[in-house]
Amino acid sequence: MKTKFVLNDVVCADSKTLSKLIKLNSVALTVTSPPYGNAINYSQHVKNLKSGKGKEFRGNVGGTLDDYLNEMQEIFSEVKKVTMPGGFCCIVIADELSEGTLVPLPSLLVSKLVDLKDEDEGWHLRDMIIWNKVTAGRSGAGNRFGQFVKIPVPTRYRANIMHEYIIVLQKGKKARFLLKETEPKVPLNRAMKRQVALSVWDITPVPPNAVKHPAVFPEQIPWRLIQMYTKPGDVVLDPMCGSGQTVKVANSLKRKYIGVDIRKEYVSLAKKRAKEKMMLSNFMIPLYFPVKWVDGVQSGKKSDAHIDVEDHIPKGFKIIFQKLSKDSENGTDTTHIYYKNKSGDYICCIIGASQEPYMMKLGNPKKASSPLKKILSKLPDTFDLLDVKSILPDGIPDDPYSLVSLVDVLEYEKNVKRKTRSLTKVVYEKSPRSKK
Ligand SMILES: C[S@@+](CC[C@H](N)C(=O)[O-])C[C@H]1O[C@@H](n2cnc3c(N)ncnc32)[C@H](O)[C@@H]1O
Repeated sequence: MKTKFVLNDVVCADSKTLSKLIKLNSVALTVTSPPYGNAINYSQHVKNLKSGKGKEFRGNVGGTLDDYLNEMQEIFSEVKKVTMPGGFCCIVIADELSEGTLVPLPSLLVSKLVDLKDEDEGWHLRDMIIWNKVTAGRSGAGNRFGQFVKIPVPTRYRANIMHEYIIVLQKGKKARFLLKETEPKVPLNRAMKRQVALSVWDITPVPPNAVKHPAVFPEQIPWRLIQMYTKPGDVVLDPMCGSGQTVKVANSLKRKYIGVDIRKEYVSLAKKRAKEKMMLSNFMIPLYFPVKWVDGVQSGKKSDAHIDVEDHIPKGFKIIFQKLSKDSENGTDTTHIYYKNKSGDYICCIIGASQEPYMMKLGNPKKASSPLKKILSKLPDTFDLLDVKSILPDGIPDDPYSLVSLVDVLEYEKNVKRKTRSLTKVVYEKSPRSKK
């Protein structure tokens, strides 16, 4: 009887048996993240899901480091069997924190897996990417530096851990090679180039509890790797797929997918999520804004925000000015970037700290059909943002950030003048020209 191999599906199995489920030499790329040693007790997490209780599931698995590494070696030698010659395997993994010191799981795993002698079939190390988690590492157990700040005595220094690793392995010395004449190109816009040119990638982590799995990596990771190492129609595997981020992104990018997890609760979750849309915004590289921006601590430059959105600005629009509005209570900043075309139409791109960027068409304040003109005609002589809110035309969101951007443009066009500004209230008056 012909064996029925898994394809475009997520199945419940132990990945130490992968070669029984998946056609040998068929997978172009694996993107996966194994358990990080003893860091998470997945069985306890699944029990919590069922009981609704919140029992601690971190850092209490048991088992020796050798057992762990041997299990990983078994799984990744199965991955190798199902990977095509020259295919790739990307493993997302971090050092494990154990009673104050680090267990270097990525290095230990690499030395266990890499086999330079076997030029045809051995895993070769192609890249070691650092995933800079941008916002992570400053609270809870990750806040090691906080302890040092309390007692800044020599020998007590420990850094906050802000990064993980993406180990990129290839099967055999010779990587798979696609012809430039016939193959689709990786969509490299400016933002993408800037991000992937270097071996340090800035990607914000998935917020806790956003998905019913305790160790979800952001879609941005498989999204980049799948585009770098495969073409549409290729098979992408995640042998420890958890919530199914890899299979979901692979499916969206028109690759075939295979997901495997040992726990049936995660398999049902991943099966469902494989068909869902990606959460990535339309923007090529979602911005790496932390919820709280602390100058000098964060990496990435907020002033560069426009580079990330530039490719999505309609043709003919040029950046005119940029402003920052501050929410002092939450410590968050929102950037407003204003673009204008030759006919005088404005659009505003609003890049907040906690939401995805959004764009508003504001029209031309000199044309009667423009929201700006309509607002201006209805405004009292002296007004604040609440007055603007009460006369908004349809289709303009009434959050404070949108309101600020409307008035910013009116101010820029000299239709109104800022009268006073305090942290809580901004008051404007119509300029004499616009009163006529
Ligand atoms: C770090 S999580 C993966 C999370 C996933 N990358 C995501 O974004 O949701 C590791 C997963 O490996 C699964 N796992 C552990 N040992 C396994 C094995 N031998 N075979 C298959 N899955 C396994 C666990 O159940 C867990 O869901």
